[in-house]
Amino acid sequence: MKQILILLAFFLFGCSIDPLSEKDKFLKNLILKMTVMEKIGQLNQYSSFFDVTGPGPKKGEDSLKYEQIKQGLVGSVLNVSGVEEVRALQKLVIENSRLKIPLIFALDVIHGYKTISPIPLAESASWNLGLIQNSASMAAKEAAASGINWTFAPMVDISRDARWGRVMEGGGEDPYLGSKIAVARINGFQGFNLKDPFTIAACAKHFAAYGFAESGRDYNTVDMGLQTLHNIVLPPFKSSAEAGVATFMNSFNELNGVPATGSEFLQRDILKGKWDYKGLIVSDWGSIGEMVPHGFSKDLKAAAKTAILAGSDMDMMSSAYIKHLKSLVDQKQISQEIIDDAVLRVLGLKYDLGLFSDPYRYCDLEREKEHVLNSENRQIALDIAKESIVLLKNKNNMLPLKKSGLKIALVGALANDKDSPLGNWKANGPKNSAISILEGLSRGNKNKLNFERGPRLINKPTFFHEHVDINSTDTTGTKKALKLAKKSDIVIAVLGEHGLQSGEGRSRTKIDLPGLQNKFLKALYKENKNIVLVLMNGRPLDLSWMDENIPAIVESWHLGTMSGEAVASVLYGDYNPSGKLPVSFPRSLGQVPIYYNYKNTGRPGPSSAVFWSHFNDERNDPLYPFGHGLSYTSFKYSNLKIEKKMDSSLKVSFTVKNTGELEGQEVVQLYIRDLYSFVTRPVKELKRFKKILFKPMEEKVITFTLKKNDLGFLNNEGNLIFEKGEFEIMIGGSSYTEINQRINL
Ligand code: NOJ
Repeated sequence: MKQILILLAFFLFGCSIDPLSEKDKFLKNLILKMTVMEKIGQLNQYSSFFDVTGPGPKKGEDSLKYEQIKQGLVGSVLNVSGVEEVRALQKLVIENSRLKIPLIFALDVIHGYKTISPIPLAESASWNLGLIQNSASMAAKEAAASGINWTFAPMVDISRDARWGRVMEGGGEDPYLGSKIAVARINGFQGFNLKDPFTIAACAKHFAAYGFAESGRDYNTVDMGLQTLHNIVLPPFKSSAEAGVATFMNSFNELNGVPATGSEFLQRDILKGKWDYKGLIVSDWGSIGEMVPHGFSKDLKAAAKTAILAGSDMDMMSSAYIKHLKSLVDQKQISQEIIDDAVLRVLGLKYDLGLFSDPYRYCDLEREKEHVLNSENRQIALDIAKESIVLLKNKNNMLPLKKSGLKIALVGALANDKDSPLGNWKANGPKNSAISILEGLSRGNKNKLNFERGPRLINKPTFFHEHVDINSTDTTGTKKALKLAKKSDIVIAVLGEHGLQSGEGRSRTKIDLPGLQNKFLKALYKENKNIVLVLMNGRPLDLSWMDENIPAIVESWHLGTMSGEAVASVLYGDYNPSGKLPVSFPRSLGQVPIYYNYKNTGRPGPSSAVFWSHFNDERNDPLYPFGHGLSYTSFKYSNLKIEKKMDSSLKVSFTVKNTGELEGQEVVQLYIRDLYSFVTRPVKELKRFKKILFKPMEEKVITFTLKKNDLGFLNNEGNLIFEKGEFEIMIGGSSYTEINQRINL
């Protein structure tokens, strides 16, 4: 509260030491002219609800909203896009409202606008921050050219639970990697300056702990200790705030009994307090109203009061603010200062986006034509798609394939699908616009490729808001596919999840291949053992049987527009795979949640007796660990040296050699372990990584510097603690590291 007053005093009355900037003067001037209702209107966000280029709605709730837009009682809309539509709606406000405050246009541009990049989890598997940034910047260019100024991305939720459908939307399980990826995406979307018309405002979401929903069931309760909150969940959010992300979104879940949307602890104490965040916090869709069913607010008015007091600045789709804030102010339950603080954050963003200088600056039809789905953007999507692929297994170097002389059977319902590979949250990605695997493999080689679908994966075309209808009985096509497999040299089976089987509201209690695909794969295996399994999925799957039996396994996630071309380039060795898993793949669902940075327990074992921390029917370790990913070449790590510097930092150097005949990229990874501490520390924590290209037989010395804060951790107040003592430094090409050394500090 004290901070709000200081901030407001600064905005409203100026500050004698630091003269007001142009921006502050402008905002001060504007807010002084606004009525309370006009201010509240700025905090109100609606989703598209009528055909904006047609006539406005004439009756009911929609006509009320329409009138509100004309009166300047809406600050932002989401889900309206395209230059003509955006211009039409912006015109409604500019030509009708008293103060002509432009709208901000928001959309979930999660991994592309029309040119679709790999889903965020896949991109994270590239560990290539430059390419991740390029991909976000390409998405921003396309979206901005189509009238959008604000994306609800990146999702920076850490998750350890493959059951949760939104694993596909994030950076994986690790806070360090997750933080780096968050910053790369923010820099990509926002560029150097939001005034640049090719950039859009980003949004770090969902604040906080949404990825820890109990049993992975979406929107479910989160109960979590402060150690996990500060050290695992919050770091990517903090990095986002430090990187200057323009907005935050709060989350649907409760955290330790308090819905995040109504949490002063998260929004006022941590984000706007301790981290001094000056940007805007938007609620999640309807999450203010959802505090009623949560059992936290007695009605919508109470929810509005709780949310604004807790620091939620903008109300997405609850209509709680527009309906109730005025009477709360009149009844002195909410102060003007609280409202003004929130309004200034909204207006500040509009100013930064340049909307006050020109509300139509994102509305140029020519620019839209030129910048959307062009060849440059497709190349960017292809570059990241290739690097996102993870080679999980490659027995006897079955891959890469020869380019001639092979009879190949391509099977699986996903192999010729041109829509599913776009994945969930595909924004305005046109239907069926992905290059299918069938198309990709048909080019650039002289093999004989035949395709038979096998059993159907889904019953009927699926839309964003629908459940994917997995057909468990339709075996049509199976026999033909098996026959083809039998008479072919190699089978390429493209199996996995439909693109809409992961994402929001898509939690699963089984993480195996859906539908008839497991059965189908086993039947194929009886006909022909030379199988290359190409997986498409948005979460870790249970691949235990496949790992035991199938010689080559390629994780291709949902790779977006350029899917087929990217997969073909890896299968044929035109691109040497370099992706590494950003999440652990379990051996079976019972291991979930499973993650590499676990605590050791007092009984880590292994022991021949029964009383140690283990399962009776499963190993403890994952099938494929965090950081794992093979290449067509191999790398050797040696010569680890650790040097203590005067300033207590550590210089860690080691040698990596490409021991094979092919050029390839390796993600070198450095982990630490703090061996004992007043709070127990994980057995491994990623602290540095770098993706490096090696020529055949090339050797390089890699050096990393670790500072004191890299070796410390956050206490329950979120303050950094560094304890002297024994540390282990571990190096390798996955979290199963190759060399290690201990050091006393
Ligand atoms: C709900 C989702 O949780 C959020 O991530 C998204 O940005 C909003 N809907 C708007 O579509």
